[in-house]
Amino acid sequence: MAEQLAERVIGQPESLDAIIPYIQMYQAGLSPEGRPIGVFLLLGPTGTGKTRTVEALAEVLHGNAKNVLRIDCGEYQMEHEVAKLIGAPPGYLGHRETQPLLTQVKLNAVMSEQNNLSIVLFDEIEKAAGSLQRLLLGVLDKASLRLGDNSIVNFERSLIFLTSNLGAREMARELRPEFGLETATVRSIEEGRSGAKRLETVAVAAVKRKFAPEFVNRIDLMLTYQSLDAAALEKILDLQVRVLQEHLDRRLGNRSFRVEVPKRSRQFLLRRGTSVEYGARELKRTLHRFVMQPLAAMVAEGRVAPDSLVRFELNSSSERLDVVPGKRAA
Ligand SMILES: Nc1ncnc2c1ncn2[C@@H]1O[C@H](COP(=O)(O)OP(=O)(O)O)[C@@H](O)[C@H]1O
Ligand SMILES: [Mg+2]
Repeated sequence: MAEQLAERVIGQPESLDAIIPYIQMYQAGLSPEGRPIGVFLLLGPTGTGKTRTVEALAEVLHGNAKNVLRIDCGEYQMEHEVAKLIGAPPGYLGHRETQPLLTQVKLNAVMSEQNNLSIVLFDEIEKAAGSLQRLLLGVLDKASLRLGDNSIVNFERSLIFLTSNLGAREMARELRPEFGLETATVRSIEEGRSGAKRLETVAVAAVKRKFAPEFVNRIDLMLTYQSLDAAALEKILDLQVRVLQEHLDRRLGNRSFRVEVPKRSRQFLLRRGTSVEYGARELKRTLHRFVMQPLAAMVAEGRVAPDSLVRFELNSSSERLDVVPGKRAA
């Protein structure tokens, strides 16, 4: 499991290493009763793999990234929206039309034949109204949630992930030279571990300012994701190019061909697709725009011979990539 996760989430080994034992406890039948399998708060700069970790776990445990009960907390900024998660009591206005989101049925639906644990993600938790925090208290503490219709949802077989960008702005400032904190940046890169520690301090302080102590106390692990260095970003791009190739092979079958993205072109994609502020968040879109879309056009026009090699060369303007269709691949 560790290996499969590390193939998918790059540059965050400490976080993965910390999560895995909770899953093993569950698989060994040794998780404490009356609590979720684990409650994790993932912190750190944007685009560093927090949400990706949860998807990767679903891929590894269930064979599908979609096997996650995901609550986008940005959709629950108002108190009445939070009520929609649990549904209105019978007889109340809206009882019939509101299907609560956090039902046992929905929780069970994200299990799989491979695995009977469910992954629940409260994404960007800081955006939710305060009442969501209160609602979560019981879930985190007793692994149970009472719905509007009085039924109880059991979270004892759930891994609960909360992600938050709290402190992200301060962290970006800490990491970005043009904000006059050049020394801080240089230090956090040079010192590695201690730079990481500083991010953690910023993140945890922001969490404690925002959330009530009883909420914070119920979290098993607070994990601070590190900003990704150049080597990690390069690896993520390699991974995405590989996924793109697999996608072509799967979709085109024997009409497929090989895509080659030389080093200089990769550097271009990294320049365009990554930043201190957004991490690797834009990388996929960049690859899509400069590689996948031109490819799609060529395939649609029948300009790529099956089995050929298609190279993406950096244009002399350094502003885009040129497609160089080649001969048959060796
Ligand atoms: N550590 C990482 N390993 C692999 N891919 C990553 C990593 N960090 C970011 N990405 C890429 O960037 C996208 C956005 O990352 P995400 O995990 O959603 O960021 P956040 O930390 O803000 O939740 C992912 O879908 C993935 O393509
Ligand atoms: Mg996220």
